[in-house]
Amino acid sequence: MDHEAQEASFQRLARLTALKQAPDGTFHLGHWRRGPFLSALVKRLRPRHILEFGTGRGYGALCMAQASVEGGFDCTVWTIDVIPTTQPQPWLLDEGAGAVHIHASLEEVWSKHVPVEWTQRIRCLTGDSRSVMRRWRREGLPRVDCCFIDGGHDYATVKHDFVAALRIANPRCSFLLDDYTERKGYGVKRFFDRELAPRLPAEAWEILDPMAWDETAFGEKVPHKMVLLKGEAFGALTLAQLYSPREVRAFDRWDAWRTDSQRLARRVKALLRLRREAARTT
Ligand SMILES: C[S@@+](CC[C@H](N)C(=O)[O-])C[C@H]1O[C@@H](n2cnc3c(N)ncnc32)[C@H](O)[C@@H]1O
Repeated sequence: MDHEAQEASFQRLARLTALKQAPDGTFHLGHWRRGPFLSALVKRLRPRHILEFGTGRGYGALCMAQASVEGGFDCTVWTIDVIPTTQPQPWLLDEGAGAVHIHASLEEVWSKHVPVEWTQRIRCLTGDSRSVMRRWRREGLPRVDCCFIDGGHDYATVKHDFVAALRIANPRCSFLLDDYTERKGYGVKRFFDRELAPRLPAEAWEILDPMAWDETAFGEKVPHKMVLLKGEAFGALTLAQLYSPREVRAFDRWDAWRTDSQRLARRVKALLRLRREAARTT
């Protein structure tokens, strides 16, 4: 397939699994170039196991699975999301006759539009990344060779997902962090600039610019970039190379405390809602 036909085929998949609507109502494919990039990375690294944080509607996972089919090597894409694959969700897609809003589950859309030889290489794990990663080793899931971090974008979640992935990574595992952007509430750039870049040799990472833009809450357009940590450049990257045992313990304690307080806040909110509803009906 020539370059243009390849780009058209990624765009077709993005129209089914990654289409977006701008505040002015127009439809666009946003950051669809992550697809060709993930595909090229997977074909080059030939990972046996890939871990993705944030399945979304599946564009990234499908591009990676497709790359392994085309490359002719065994590969499983493990992908984590809080939204169950059978749960209907608002889904914007264009099957060729223009963009439409539907309500469908990932399983419904995939089974209608995606080849089984791609989807059978994907294992969807449902839950918050913190609970799924706690189960990972208990359930004997494999070490991974490549990791795409694209789930929760706040600083604490990005750091959690990176640290958790590093704990189950094989030597020479590569990491791709999406959403290296100046957007409010997004912590990837801060995490990378402050914590990883100063601790890694310059040849071990690269900022990638897929020529995509994000719109901030103030309507300002900022570049949407990605960061690649190149497994082949740092050999066996371990937590111990990046953080002291004290820093790791402090982060784990803080992260657990944060998760518990968020859970408590959610329960209190639900309780207050129930009391308000009970008061209204009496
Ligand atoms: C940007 S989308 C992922 C896009 C996908 N990686 C792709 O390339 O098409 C982010 C997804 O992360 C999920 N998510 C956010 N926080 C999460 C968390 N803490 N644990 C698991 N999934 C999370 C959201 O439900 C959402 O579907």
